[in-house]
Amino acid sequence: PHHFLSVTDTSEDEARAIFEGVARQKRAGNTNNEEDLPLLGQSWALLFRKPSTRTRVSFELAIRQLGGSTLFLSAAELQLSRGEPMEDTARVLGRMVQGAVIRTFAQEEIVAFAKSSGIPTVNALTDQEHPCQVLADIFTFEEKRGPIAGKTVAFLGDASCNVARSWALAAPLFRFHLRFGAPRAFFCDVENPWVTQTESPEEAVRGADLLYTDVWISMGKEEESAVREKAFSAYQLNSRLLRRAKAEALVLHCLPAHRGKEIEGELFEERAGDIFDQAENRLHVQKGLLRWLVGRSERVQ
Ligand code: CP
Repeated sequence: PHHFLSVTDTSEDEARAIFEGVARQKRAGNTNNEEDLPLLGQSWALLFRKPSTRTRVSFELAIRQLGGSTLFLSAAELQLSRGEPMEDTARVLGRMVQGAVIRTFAQEEIVAFAKSSGIPTVNALTDQEHPCQVLADIFTFEEKRGPIAGKTVAFLGDASCNVARSWALAAPLFRFHLRFGAPRAFFCDVENPWVTQTESPEEAVRGADLLYTDVWISMGKEEESAVREKAFSAYQLNSRLLRRAKAEALVLHCLPAHRGKEIEGELFEERAGDIFDQAENRLHVQKGLLRWLVGRSERVQ
């Protein structure tokens, strides 16, 4: 089977084909077509070790709209929480369901799951990556502003977080320039010719086509709240920084948003239309991703 564990798990051509399919489906009105149910007869497990609103709802609906059924498994209620290895959990699920969407801590856990289960596995967020989010973000940019190739994306705040890493890995694939504006201690560990990092938020946003931010206190980092708020306070996405970007710059936020922290409250409300379109696109893009994954897995079997 094929998996989507990292944003690099599709080629640019494959991502483009997914996006074209998604745009087509959206134009057609996203109506359920009884003859177009690639997951018909399949059960997919959603195994989540962390809270989620967008990812959970969008995947449950995506799978059901493609004809499949879902089992939501909160890790706290599984033997996993009492020490059963991820590999054994994977071997059990692999005999009963046809695919899995997993939100967990270490990237290695999801890699182990994919290997041991033998079923298509999707990364719904690990400490290393949030590839489904970034795929939907890029689709949203292109839907609103056209091709992202050659454009400049400014990411403000925590450049060491999972969403930032997926953006950095996506940059060479889609050929956009990514500028992180972050404190040095929170720089991204992904290096490639498309990524630059600066401690100056003004420099990061200068002439940018997309301004992007993420929560400062990501899940599992609650104990560092005070240190993080102090470190990131100069990197708030606000109207002052927006004025330094291109006049037509798009503002996106992967949500949940903390007004007055990583994004100015007024700016958030001003751009809420785009930001909630971005959230809705998780559903559309994940449907495209699942179609690709299942189609690909079938072809190689
Ligand atoms: N953006 C995102 O992943 O949201 P959830 O944590 O609510 O799934």
